[in-house]
Amino acid sequence: MAWTAHTIIQNGKAIPFEEARIHPLAVGLAYGASVFEGIRAYINPVTKRLSVFRLEEHLVRLDQGMKFMRFDDPPSRDELRQGVLDSVKANAPDDDAYIRLQVHIESLGNQSTTGKVGWVCAAIPRERSPKRTSGLALGVSSWTRIADNTTPARIKATANYHAGRIATLQSKADGYDAPILLTREGKVSESAGACLCLVRDGVMITPARDSDILESVTRTTVMQLAAELGVPVEERRADRSELYVADEVFLCGTGQELVPVATIDRLPVGDGKPGAITMKLQEAYESVVRGTTDAHAEWRTPVV
Ligand SMILES: Cc1ncc(COP(=O)(O)O)c(C=O)c1O
Repeated sequence: MAWTAHTIIQNGKAIPFEEARIHPLAVGLAYGASVFEGIRAYINPVTKRLSVFRLEEHLVRLDQGMKFMRFDDPPSRDELRQGVLDSVKANAPDDDAYIRLQVHIESLGNQSTTGKVGWVCAAIPRERSPKRTSGLALGVSSWTRIADNTTPARIKATANYHAGRIATLQSKADGYDAPILLTREGKVSESAGACLCLVRDGVMITPARDSDILESVTRTTVMQLAAELGVPVEERRADRSELYVADEVFLCGTGQELVPVATIDRLPVGDGKPGAITMKLQEAYESVVRGTTDAHAEWRTPVV
């Protein structure tokens, strides 16, 4: 049974979900001066306890974003960590939760306004990808990925998602599940809300950090899990044509989790079925997020 969120944390206070407020002219909205994290909390099937996956890594990335955005007097990491745990606890979910932690400028102002800073943390239910076992149909977008010297992708700013949205809506209009974005140099970057990995000759390849990717927590996790499973990992630039000759391709991210890709530009990836390495990694990811293995307990923060 899907649970419902009834409580949200705004500026450290738990309030009814519908009562969270921000002025329509707040700089966070009017100029997109806002950074956020998408985080998941997973339930353990035996203990029925929830734990937040890689909370510290998300908080570190958010700190980097707040620094880059030159926010005045940003909330502390301790305050935000507590906010995340409280947002889950307050709603007492009986299943997994998706957590959105967002820091934005609450005041009215202009493009150079750097405060007052406010934040919100919501825990809500979220479906898993319906293509988790069958695989996604992706298309290479004619829109290119945002560039580091315009709108840096490694900063998880809400404004970045304007570009992702354009590409996503185009790809859906063209009959795909999601886009693959290339850098301005024509190398593979990522999808609109997840990182991309390829498998060629038993090696997992993922575009390097200078390919205008979001420095994804899940990508780092999957790289480590692959290495632990004995799969060699290459972090490097990837050509577009490698997408068509790869044995396997998958997307990974907190929201998407780990999903195989069945076709790209209507060409089958490998034999068009989810690949063996992809599904092994999906299984390993599932057990590490849920805590059905003792491995990497340091990645799971219990909600207590
Ligand atoms: C554009 C983009 N790339 C990659 C990712 C994956 O990042 P993470 O694994 O940290 O969630 C996300 C978010 O899920 C994203 O929005």
